Amino acid sequence: MIKALRGTKDILPGESDLWQFIESTGRDIFNIYGYNEIRTPIIEEASLFIRGIGDLTDIVQKEMYVFSDRGNRRVALRPEATASIVRAYIENSMSQSGGAAKLFYTGPMFRSERPQQGRQRQFYQIGVEAIGSDSPFLDAEVIALAVRFLDRLGVKNYHVKLNSLGCQKDKMAAIAKHKENFKPHFEKLCDTCKARFDKNVLRIFDCKGDTCRVIAENVKVEAALCNDCESHFKKVKQCLDELGVKYTVDHKIVRGLDYYTKTVFEITQDDLGAKDAICAGGRYNNLVKELGGKDTPATGFAFGVERLALALKAVSCQHSAVSPKVFVAVAGEGLYPEAFKLLDSLRGAGIASEMDYDERSLKSQMRKAEKLGAGFVVILGEDEFKKGKAVLKDMSSGDQKEIMLNEIISALHTIKTSQVAEGNLRS
Ligand code: HAM
Repeated sequence: MIKALRGTKDILPGESDLWQFIESTGRDIFNIYGYNEIRTPIIEEASLFIRGIGDLTDIVQKEMYVFSDRGNRRVALRPEATASIVRAYIENSMSQSGGAAKLFYTGPMFRSERPQQGRQRQFYQIGVEAIGSDSPFLDAEVIALAVRFLDRLGVKNYHVKLNSLGCQKDKMAAIAKHKENFKPHFEKLCDTCKARFDKNVLRIFDCKGDTCRVIAENVKVEAALCNDCESHFKKVKQCLDELGVKYTVDHKIVRGLDYYTKTVFEITQDDLGAKDAICAGGRYNNLVKELGGKDTPATGFAFGVERLALALKAVSCQHSAVSPKVFVAVAGEGLYPEAFKLLDSLRGAGIASEMDYDERSLKSQMRKAEKLGAGFVVILGEDEFKKGKAVLKDMSSGDQKEIMLNEIISALHTIKTSQVAEGNLRS
């Protein structure tokens, strides 16, 4: 039997309802905040991510799916979307006069990591990118948006951790300090981290090896921001305070991708276990230029959808499968073609409807209608049909009445409207 690849998963009906809820809640709130959807290819030139994310990062060194295509081009399955979106922004000249281009996205990403709960090789992200402004208000907007999204979904027990890496100059100064602090532990570092010590010491914080992790957890980390970056960070914090967004400043948030500058943040969630980062993001003021565009500041975030789904299951957020509003039942063998036509006209009128094609007894059809959660059953029986009528049964009250066949659709529409008015629509 052929099975799904390790680290990939089928999202089955039932679970996909929860995913749709996450996506539609995201779309709603992103639109409210002025973000429009962008869809970029999942396959790109590998060099985009090598240059964008950084050649010494775990993602590029160990996790990226890279291969030569039939034309011998080095291509990669995208490990994240930020670099792709910046590529699209430059390629499609999306710069906005007087403000940032505000984009949101959702879709699969690929990283060849060791699979575990909340960590997959094909996983999904939902996120935003705002390209074209260095305003601290935009940092605050993006972080507040991530938090409001969680609140709308009903995710609880999350924590925002905030830091500023500063500008490129500050990052260089911080790297020098980190080197000093890691130096006494150099001999104990793994070979990869020994190489990182010289080339990009920040990446030692991402090492998943036990020894390096303990060293990184205990090493001293100090903030070293220039006046401009310090004042930018202060304003971001003030804005968040004014909005009532809670956070803690954590100087160890350095992020595992090289493109970050200034404000960075992660959101963890208590129910996720070891892989507790549900969202991560921050500023990447040098990336547009690095990828061949004009010098353009930007910021954004991405949530892991699997992790959002896990957090929602922890608060027992259930989203039941869509139920048909109407089930068409047949009491008379010869009426199947008529019932099939009626089903088609109900669906054509936008009424979610089902029937059973296997010519079972009326009793088993009614059982199926109940199982599917249908609000109403239209029963086509020979006697009523001869009079141009059918029986309409309300499944919640059990009431039933004869109704003219050509009045079924308008009757169901009327019921739907009155139920919406009462706020008790079943499906
Ligand atoms: P990231 O921290 O690499 O950042 O990923 C963001 C989120 O994706 C993580 O917090 C986690 O929830 C989820 N995630 C990452 N890897 C996996 C995995 N193997 N399995 C399941 N979920 C995973 C980025 O990707 C940046 N592009 C975020 C960003 C957007 N920064 C600025 N704009």
